This record gives sequence, C-alpha cells and structure tokens, in this order.
Amino acid sequence: MIKPHGSDKLNPLYVQDAAKRAALVKEAEGLPSIVVSSAAAANAVMMGGGYFNPLTGYMNVADSISVAENMKTTSGLFWPVPIVNVVKDASPIKGAKRIALKDPNVAGNPVIAIQDVQAIEEFTDAQMKMMTDKIFRTDDPKHPGVSAFNSVGKTVISGPIQVLNYSYFDKEFPETFRTAYEIRDMMAKLGWEKIVAFQTRNPMHLAHEELCRMAKKDLKADGILIHMLLGKLKEGDIPADVRDACIRKMVELYFEPNTVLITGYGFDMLYAGPREALLHAVFRQNTGCTHLIVGRDHAGVGDYYGPFDAQTIFDEIPKGALLLDIYRADHTAWSKKLNKVIMMNSVTDHTKDDFVMLSGTKVREMLGAGQRPPREFSRPEVADILINYYRSKK
Ligand code: ADX
Repeated sequence: MIKPHGSDKLNPLYVQDAAKRAALVKEAEGLPSIVVSSAAAANAVMMGGGYFNPLTGYMNVADSISVAENMKTTSGLFWPVPIVNVVKDASPIKGAKRIALKDPNVAGNPVIAIQDVQAIEEFTDAQMKMMTDKIFRTDDPKHPGVSAFNSVGKTVISGPIQVLNYSYFDKEFPETFRTAYEIRDMMAKLGWEKIVAFQTRNPMHLAHEELCRMAKKDLKADGILIHMLLGKLKEGDIPADVRDACIRKMVELYFEPNTVLITGYGFDMLYAGPREALLHAVFRQNTGCTHLIVGRDHAGVGDYYGPFDAQTIFDEIPKGALLLDIYRADHTAWSKKLNKVIMMNSVTDHTKDDFVMLSGTKVREMLGAGQRPPREFSRPEVADILINYYRSKK
C-alpha cells in the first residue's frame, strides 16, 4: 500500500491504549485548560486519526509562516495549510507546560487532547494578512474560510498533542466517521492497492456518481473511497447526515457491490480551493489512497478561484512532494446528444445547450418546491431524500 505522507508508517496521535487514555483523562482534570476553536478541535481530530501524518502537534509561528509562504515547514516537510491552535486569550494557561484542550463542539466542553506547550506566540497583523492571502488567495471577509481564519484570535499555542477522543464525529456518524488508520485496514482487508478517493461536501448527483465511475475505469482502480466532510460548513450547505443518506442510497442502488467504501472525516471546510485540494491530497495519501479526483471548482466557494486552479496547483509543487496522483476531471454533465454523462472536453461537436446543466440555486429551488430535478441530473431516490430534508426545514 502507498506510504503515508512524510514517514514510512502512519503515526496517529490518538492514544490507542484504553488504560493509558483513562490515565490521561484523569491527568487532564488537574491541568490548566482552555476551550479551543472549532478549527483547532478539528485539527486534533485529524491528527488523532492519522490524517495529518507526520505532524506531531500544532505548528508554531515560524512553521505557519513557512507553510503559508512556501508550502513547507521549517524542517522541509511539504505541507499546504498551517495546522494551528490559535486562541484570543491564552491567560488561562499562562506559564503552563502541559495543558488540557477543551472541545467547543461538545456539551460540557470535555477534554479532547493534552498538549505539551512548546511556545505561546502572537501572529502580527501583517503575518495574518500574508497567511490569509496565501491560503485563500483573497482577504475578503465575506469569504467563509477567511472570516473563520481571522475570527479565532492571533495567539498561537504550539507543541505536540495526545488525542483522547474524536469529538462528536464517532458518536454522530458511527457508520461513516473513519480514521486514516481504519481506512488503511479496511482497504488492506479488501486487498485494494490502487484506490481513488472522492472528496465531497455535497449530496452526490449524477455527474459526481459518473465521475467516480469514470475515474475507477480509467485508472483501473480496485475501488473508490467516497470520503465526505463531516465537520462545519457554511450556511446553506446540506448537513452531513442528509448527504450521508443520499450517498448511501446512491451506492446501494447504482454501484457494483464491493467497489465503494463510504466514509467521512472530521474537519471543518476551509473553502480554500487550491490549497485545500493539496491538503485533501496529503490526507488521502495518509488513508492509503493512490489517487484523488479533483474536478471543477474543487473546495471552492463563490468566484474566488478559477474552475481548475485546484488542479494546476499540483503542477506547481515540487516533484515527489506527494506520492498520490490526482485524477483531473473536466466539467462533467449529461450530454443530450450522447445520452450519458461525459466530460465536456471529451467532445468537440457540442454546444452549451447540448448539456443538461442546472445551477445550485436552481436545484435548491426545485427541491425546496418538492420537485425532482431531471433524471439526467439527479437520481430520483437521492432527490427524494433532499426533498424531504427541505420539507422538514419549513
Ligand atoms: S468540494 O468542495 O468538496 O470539492 P463537491 O462535493 O461539490 O465540493 O465536489 C466534489 C468533487 O467533485 C470535487 O473534486 C469537484 O471538483 C468535483 N465536481 C463537482 N461537480 C463537478 C462537475 N459538474 N464537473 C466536474 N467536477 C465536479
């Protein structure tokens, strides 16, 4: 199986041994503690599960700056987005060497991880602006990722962590939330060697489904890992449990048995387009996938990124930075001439009108009105789940 990023073996930071974990939970009760941001908690979940291998904890200022500017840590590890524990006010843990990190997303704020504090530093305003520009290619506060990144504070608590639980993810999504090491085990048991990952934060419509099928066929892959984001999204995006139900129905009805694994990961969406696509690639390599589908406007939002910027950034990274390859997908849609879903660049004799294309707004309007989008766009069984969701919101 493909090696993890930056090391021969995966080194998840979740404390596997139950007795050791219980002792750490006990120890945490007596430690100075701080409630962390949702992003920092999600970083802990990702490091716990081995997704952010080979990181051993939160980055300091020098590493964050180096990652934002040059996409590598000060020790030279390829890494596309700073992984930080940033707070507004570190006074509750001032002077402490070892601290308990409390989860903002679970009632009662239980301890999610213990951190050995290496340094407490401040980002300057100029550093915040530089990182924002580099990561998001904009500093527009209306960009949901930019506003989240700039709203948590500027005080950086760096140092290694030991992760004690997976926040709300394993409880709310027991069938779907899987760690990188669990996914590696699942794929090893199936004997899969060449695996293509599909990143998604949406319910899957026909174009997404066909994209997975095309990638598997073109790459002669053993299987597809559908890997959905289970963390926080912007207003208006479809909740994870609804997306999960849609995807499960689609796979049950329309995929050959034993060709797809349906899984999810606990991370908040950054909407960082190209940089997030690189992060996606890093953590899919850590799950053992050999390929990641990167299509149109991958991890994008609004008009901040060109439709294929998330593909071209892979041409700009050093050779060998990643072992995983991407599967580049052009805009994919139903061709009325050929009566099937195709990549638009695979034909030269089509005009725009030869494709069935619906805007996100149009689809939401139809579903909200209890109307199924055309079969060329969406599976009826998937549409019905979404119609029920919109109905329940009213
Ligand atoms: S994302 O934010 O997680 O990237 P989404 O779930 O919509 O959003 O997309 C999942 C993957 O499918 C991404 O790689 C995206 O580029 C790709 N994709 C979605 N729709 C299309 C399409 N119509 N044509 C080509 N690629 C697409």
